[in-house]
This record gives sequence, structure tokens and C-alpha cells, in this order.
Amino acid sequence: MRRLRIKELAGLGLSAIILAAGQGTRMRSDLPKVLQPLAGRPLLGHVLDCAAALTADDVCVVYGHGGEAVREAFPQDSLRWALQAEQLGTGHAMQQAMPGTPDDNRVLVLFGDVPLLTPTTCRRLVDGTPPADVAVLSVDMDDPTGYGRIIRDGGSVNRIVEEKDASPAERAVAEINTGVMVCPASEMKRWLDNLGNDNAQGEYYLTDVVAMAVSDGVTVHGIKAGTWTEVMGINDKKQLAEAERALQARLVDELMKQGVGFADPARVDIRGELKCGKDVFIDVNAVFEGNVELGDGTTIESNNLVRDSKLGPRTLVHSNCHIEGATTGNDCEIGPFARLRPGAELANDVKVGNFVEVKKSTVADGSKVNHLTYIGDAEIGAGVNVGAGTITCNYDGVNKFKTTIGDGAFIGSGVELVAPVKVGAGSTVGAGSTISKDVPENQLVLERSRQKVVPGWQRPAKKDK
Ligand code: UD1
Ligand code: CA
Repeated sequence: MRRLRIKELAGLGLSAIILAAGQGTRMRSDLPKVLQPLAGRPLLGHVLDCAAALTADDVCVVYGHGGEAVREAFPQDSLRWALQAEQLGTGHAMQQAMPGTPDDNRVLVLFGDVPLLTPTTCRRLVDGTPPADVAVLSVDMDDPTGYGRIIRDGGSVNRIVEEKDASPAERAVAEINTGVMVCPASEMKRWLDNLGNDNAQGEYYLTDVVAMAVSDGVTVHGIKAGTWTEVMGINDKKQLAEAERALQARLVDELMKQGVGFADPARVDIRGELKCGKDVFIDVNAVFEGNVELGDGTTIESNNLVRDSKLGPRTLVHSNCHIEGATTGNDCEIGPFARLRPGAELANDVKVGNFVEVKKSTVADGSKVNHLTYIGDAEIGAGVNVGAGTITCNYDGVNKFKTTIGDGAFIGSGVELVAPVKVGAGSTVGAGSTISKDVPENQLVLERSRQKVVPGWQRPAKKDK
């Protein structure tokens, strides 16, 4: 639908060209700049998301530094890649992208290190500009040092001058070029073909296209971005951290609008997608990674990590849990200090208490595993009570084996269940037993030696000096 809308409005298709060839030396990292993570996703990924939300019908990434690693991070077929082997400036970068760009498209220039730009602003730029015109996205800055300045003539933009090429009067201009622009592709090609590098940096400046457009009688609009944050470029770890906080604030704001409660909106991190039902409450220092769903009335207490998990309605997660690849039904209670590992599937009204680890196991309705226990590769029925310090011995050093515990079974404290093994429904396993044979239903089993008094034994005593 949106794809149609843009095409109808503009009468033209849209090519998003993302410049991402720069080295990013100031990151001081082996990881290419555009692969540095922001909210758990590479910087470039955020820009690609923006292009996807705009339904650009052609997305081209100009890459160079980081080379194949950058390409490999985004294996989707729909992307077009243009290699800029040597970084000779933003205009040179654009030249690499133009051969595959359809002539009758419009080009939207984006940057791999400007990750917070919203589709709304891009649409304002694209939809708000007559298709034959050019528009640049600008912003006013208290300190414009270092940026290209927007030089206007009346209302429209006359040219952009880089800091190093600017006169003192031009340097006093507070309106700066964000770099983002929209332009008809055929004209962009023509103007790029005529770019020179006779300037202070000896670079091919994409910004010179603006003066060329004006001398060809094309109107160049200067459209202001709402906030600096949205258009900020990320060059170092400090700016990366600033962008992280800004993006987190944006994500949490959105959730609060949906009715999610936060003890402190500044002390939560969402690295992926967090979907919440009604009346969800999240206490401080919760980290959500990947795809997480929290059902109605879920409470996440302080200091929790929840990754790729789906927690059912009214689940209560006490402090200090580590939850990954897990699902819960209704009214479960987890922690404090519990670990749910991938494949932990808790049904309804299940309790998993402190220092309990559950891996690749199902626990049916109403069962309790309250203290100091390891449950791995197990199938636990309904209404089961697993006593403190129980261990499913699921691994012989090479193979993994399954433990099955029937409905209503009671496993005493300190029991070892040596898999493969089954405990029948309704049975009771006495504390301290090491169970290596199947237990029938509704029985009491004990596996431990008879208690005896050792005659004549004396506790060693310290010798007096
Ligand atoms: C550029 C603009 C300047 C603007 C500023 C905003 C030009 C000439 N100047 O400045 O007006 O205020 O951005 O941040 O365009 N890149 C390549 N290949 C290159 C050079 C750059 O892909 O050969 C990419 C970089 O990876 C980066 C972006 O283009 O994402 C901008 O490059 P950068 O060197 O930061 O831009 P500036 O010259 O500082
Ligand atoms: Ca820059």
C-alpha cells in the first residue's frame, strides 16, 4: 500500500542509496563502523529498516571499509551493493551506486552511520518535494563547527559549503547539511558526472550537486529535521552511547503510550522487539533481547535478562533471572535467581524458584520446582513437586537422555534422576535417592542405605598445646 502511495505521490519509484564506505577510525574497533551495535542491531540495520519502512523499491548500499563483513551481515537478496574501493568523497561514493539505479526513479541519499532518522522525516522530505526538484535535509545547530553549511537565497537553497571551504560569514550560518537529500536519479547521474575535486579536501563532494541543480534552474528545498538527535552521525563510542540512550528513550516512550509501566524509563534496555499486553510492569535494569512477548499483567522485577521468550499473562518474574528461549503459560512465578534456558516450556501456574535451572524441558500445570535444582531434557507432569537440590542426570559425557515424571509425583530433596528414567504418576521418591530404574505409579521408592550408628566412633579432637 505504502509503496503505491509514494509512487502515486511522486509519480516515480524510489532508490534509497546508503553511503556506508567510510572507515570509522574513531571507533577504534576491529568491527566496521556500520556494524557497531545500536539496540542490539548493527547501525546499518537501522538505516535499512528505515528504507524498508519507506518501501523504497531499490535499496543500494555503498560499502568499502569492512568490505565483505558488511555484506555478509545483510545477506538478503533484495539489496544492491556497490563497492567504493577507495574513499574519495561522498560524491564519489554516490557515483559507484548510480550505474544500477533506474533513471526514472528518485534517489534518497541516506547514511550508514545516521541510524536514528525516522521514516516519517524521510517521507516529509520525499513526499513534500515536487518530483522534479531537489531537497536537502538540514538542521539548526548551536555549534555548527565541522558541518557543511546551507546557504540560502530567499527561501530556497543556493548551495552547500563545507566548513573547510567556507568564508567567515558562511561559517556563522547555523543551519547545517545533514547529508540526507532527495533528487531525480537521471539528474543526479548527470551532475555527478560533472563533479570536480578542486576544494580544500581534494574530495568529490556530493554537496556540490546543489549548486549544479540551481544553475540548471532546478529548485533546491531545504527541509529541517525536527531534532538534532534524529540526524546525528555516529563517529565514536561516545556518540554511539548517546544514540543508544536516545533510541532507548524512543522505544520506551512508545511502550508507555501503549500503557506499559516502567519504574524508571531510563533504566531499561530493549535490544530487539518487545511486545507487551495490558498492565505490564517493568522494574529497573531489565534487558530485553531479540523477540520478547509479555502477556497481560506480567511483572518483571529488577535486574532481569529476557531473551527471545514469550511469557504468558500474569507471569511474575522476580529479581535476577536469566531467561532465554523460554515460554510460560498463565500465572507462572519465576525466580528470584532462576535460569530458564532454551526449550524451557512452563504451562500454567508453574513455580520455578531460586537457583533452579531449566533446559529443554516441559513442566505441566501447577508443578513446582522451588529450590536449587537442575531440570534438563525432562518432561514433568501436572501437580508435581520437585524437592530442593534435585538433579536430572541427563548427560553421560556423550549423549543426552530424557527424564519423565508423571502427574502428581513427589520428588524428595536431593534426588538424582539418572536418565533415561521414568517416575510414574503419583509416586513419591524419598529424599537422597539416586534413581536409575523406572519407578512404577503410586509407590514410594527409596534408594539409600539403611541408617546406622557406627559403634565406637569418635570425632577427632584438637590436641591441647
Ligand atoms: C558530509 C557532508 C557535510 C555534512 C556532513 C554531515 C559532503 C561533502 N559533506 O560531511 O555537508 O554536514 O556529511 O555529517 O558530503 N562516505 C563514503 N565514502 C566516501 C566518503 C564518505 O561512503 O568516500 C560516507 C561515510 O561512510 C559517512 C558519510 O559518507 O557515512 C559522510 O561522510 P563523512 O566523511 O562523515 O562526511 P563529511 O565529509 O564530514
Ligand atoms: Ca561526518
